Amino acid sequence: MLVKDLNIGMALKLNGKKLAIELEDRLLSDIALGTEKASRPPGLAVIRVGNDPASGVYVSNKERACARVGVNSFLSHFSENANSSEVIARIQELNRDDLVDGILVQLPLPKELNEQEILAAIDPNKDADGLHTLNLGRLLKSERGPRSCTPAGVMALLSRYEIPIEGKRAVVVGRSILVGQPMALMLQAQNATVSIAHSRTKELTSLTGEADLLVVAAGRPGIIGSNHIKPGAVVVDVGIHRILSTGEKESGNKPKLCGDVLFEEVDPLASALTPVPGGVGPMTVTMLLVNTVSLWQEHCGLSYTLDDLLP
Ligand code: GUN
Repeated sequence: MLVKDLNIGMALKLNGKKLAIELEDRLLSDIALGTEKASRPPGLAVIRVGNDPASGVYVSNKERACARVGVNSFLSHFSENANSSEVIARIQELNRDDLVDGILVQLPLPKELNEQEILAAIDPNKDADGLHTLNLGRLLKSERGPRSCTPAGVMALLSRYEIPIEGKRAVVVGRSILVGQPMALMLQAQNATVSIAHSRTKELTSLTGEADLLVVAAGRPGIIGSNHIKPGAVVVDVGIHRILSTGEKESGNKPKLCGDVLFEEVDPLASALTPVPGGVGPMTVTMLLVNTVSLWQEHCGLSYTLDDLLP
């Protein structure tokens, strides 16, 4: 095969920011149309516990995205000393609230809280994050339901750029419930042959080197470089890390964001690559809106308009 057939030289950038804007337009019109029939807009409740600064940024991004498309958002912010039963009591109120279609608990929670018990308290039919056991089971069985936002965002991005998946060799680096595991299931459902690599995987380079499609969700800055890539592979970088440069405060420089993939090394080899920022990140927020609007359509007896985005 010729190098030019593999499109090697500089990878096509999979622009999640642009796709997120396109999808927000679609959501805006679906919400406007549905609100006439339903007599109320969709509602998303967000629960934040403690003062983790990164979570603060993520939560405010989610609230702003809701406002842009016409989803009502309701924030419950608990102090870091809150206990599991207080948080669960709030979730139970939200489960009964007819104006709330989706509930999201921002992770990570303070260590003292029982994350599993808290997530299990969310009504699975209001599970905006798709992380409830029942919804992970629905994904496993290809049944309709809210989907984990980050991997669903990756699937939407691959679909938008018409990246072929069927029959391809896919490797997912990372086995978290939030990303790695549902990602592998979604790729498998579209007929990729999938392997999952993780922190105990031996010979990572030879495994990733087989991948036509490599999704990296390891949570470790720069662990994937040129020696991990098959020339012509499609590389999706789910990592996002804030790199503090020395003297950042004094110089007033903005912190640099980087992913799990060494962009400069991989760019000349890959056929397509997601940038950080502006790749997968914006898609996660959009898919949260997609799940919420889809749950609203279900709760209000409206037609489903977003099933193509729920892999
Ligand atoms: N923390 C980091 N990413 C996510 C996410 O997608 N959902 C929730 N609930 N918390 C997160």
